[in-house]
Amino acid sequence: MQLTSKKLMRLWREFWISKQHIEIKGASLIPEDNTVLFTTAGMQPLIPYLMGKTHPLGNKLFDIQPCLRTNDIDEVGDNRHHTMFFMLGNWSLGAYFKPEAIKWSYEFLTSPKYLGIPKERLAVTVFAGNDIAPRDETASTLWQQQGMNKDQIYYLSDNWWEIGGGVGPCGPDTEIFYDTGKPKCSENCNPSCDCGKWVEIWNNVFMEFNVQNKGEKPTKLPKQNVDTGMGLERVVSVLNGFASTYQNDCFVDAVKVLEDLSGRKFNFENDEGRDFCIICDHIRASVFLLGDIQPTTPSNVGQGYVLRRLIRRAVNCTRQLGIQPDALLKVADTFINFYADEFPQFVQKREFILDELNKEIAKFAKALSGGLKEFNHIIANMHNGDTIDGVSAFRLFDTFGFPLELTIDLSKEHGIKVDKQGFEEAMKKHQQLSRDNSGAMFKGGVAVANNSTEAVRLARLHSATHLMLGALRRVVGDYVEQRGSNITPERLRFDFLCDHKLTPTELAEVERQVNEAIEANVPITCETMTVEQARASGAIGIFDNKYGDQVTVYTMGKFSKEICGGPHAKTTGELKKFKILKEESSSSGVRRIKATIFDD
Ligand code: SER
Repeated sequence: MQLTSKKLMRLWREFWISKQHIEIKGASLIPEDNTVLFTTAGMQPLIPYLMGKTHPLGNKLFDIQPCLRTNDIDEVGDNRHHTMFFMLGNWSLGAYFKPEAIKWSYEFLTSPKYLGIPKERLAVTVFAGNDIAPRDETASTLWQQQGMNKDQIYYLSDNWWEIGGGVGPCGPDTEIFYDTGKPKCSENCNPSCDCGKWVEIWNNVFMEFNVQNKGEKPTKLPKQNVDTGMGLERVVSVLNGFASTYQNDCFVDAVKVLEDLSGRKFNFENDEGRDFCIICDHIRASVFLLGDIQPTTPSNVGQGYVLRRLIRRAVNCTRQLGIQPDALLKVADTFINFYADEFPQFVQKREFILDELNKEIAKFAKALSGGLKEFNHIIANMHNGDTIDGVSAFRLFDTFGFPLELTIDLSKEHGIKVDKQGFEEAMKKHQQLSRDNSGAMFKGGVAVANNSTEAVRLARLHSATHLMLGALRRVVGDYVEQRGSNITPERLRFDFLCDHKLTPTELAEVERQVNEAIEANVPITCETMTVEQARASGAIGIFDNKYGDQVTVYTMGKFSKEICGGPHAKTTGELKKFKILKEESSSSGVRRIKATIFDD
């Protein structure tokens, strides 16, 4: 191989060190702030710093970050999709902007010392402009100064990057593509086209904006930052002229194990090739999740549920290839060995990783035999062309561990269909009601009460949480935002965006303001309105609803107005007395307060 993934990592380090950048260690796949399930981009752990916080390692940084995205999970099996992948990134936290970013990107890509890509093989896109930021002539000129021709530069209106959710740092970007040399599929063919002529390899985001609340217009950040992300798997495969990223060095041993055991040759273009790819991807991701500093183990909720799904899908693929599921242990072993230098903890945790995989494979086998009985029961009175309803398909999944794909496959053999949408709806309902580590049931961060006394206390603590957020925003600043909330009958626990440890004076003032609101004994009212009306009314909260959706807004006099699903007390007076128990760090840029209420 001309360029291996290990060599690319080495070149990446050499290059940025030569530009006086400091390496930050890749963060856990499990984000610290709990706002999303997984680390989906290299910039995610850097959000507080892009927002203005000082980074302890300086303002020029780079990293090699494992990322996990599940939105494309059903695409895995083709020639380029992965759940887990590496993103190479470099950051300027106000240190440099477009000129250096573009110059260095171009140098890394084209210099014979690094990737040595002929400039004719590159194409870039730049922001076409809107009412927030102008057409990016600056980026275009800078690319031309590097030697790119005008016809290699495309202006696109979707060259704007923001984190999923639409809140936080964002800005126009310039994306860099590798031109495979295939002819354009049409006159309008441009790098965003799916025809296979272009492969995106790197994204440079010029993060100089921020969206405070979803739906609001971006405003300028205090500093002009650069956030870049290069897909390691993509780069390795295009530079080797591979038709599939699964030909990369990291998968070679895994593919060999599967070829030897199945007696089949890997060809990504046929159905069996798809099974090879799914196994390689899902087991590599599973090794990274199990071997992570914060290990995930298979379960039915959250990250554990994703891991379970990955392992069980891989097991299904072994069935398709006619090999035993324990082949997956051998596959996992190849990844532990391959990444031994970069992730030595995989080697130390080899036994744990293989053991967890093995346990899940066994659990699945047991569930399958039970599930098969249930499946036969469900279809006993069905006929060709009938449909299994979503709730039954979900029960097969939830109680018997039948992945939806398996239900669909088996149903097909009988000419029966499956209500996929109904399945997703049943799944959503289930996920809203899930258990935390202590075994208590939670709904939207509030424990499910076992009796009416508990229910009343939970509602009062929930109202106290709103009053406290209101007070925090007045005392610390209105950039304070909720990052997580968890309420049990004993206490509230609240995580929020904050760039410093709260001082004793701030804490005392927050406590005083909450008690003032309690003494004022104002009614707690609830109104239903559209998202737009809620926003216009000044309510805070998560605006991830669709246009026109109805939301409920809870108001506590002048002290708080939040979008929330309840339940709450009827008046603030019911809370009696509020006390902060503890203030601590939750993760970088996020503080945590534990507080409670009592009767006198
Ligand atoms: N945040 C950008 C991306 O994920 C660049 O790192 O593409």
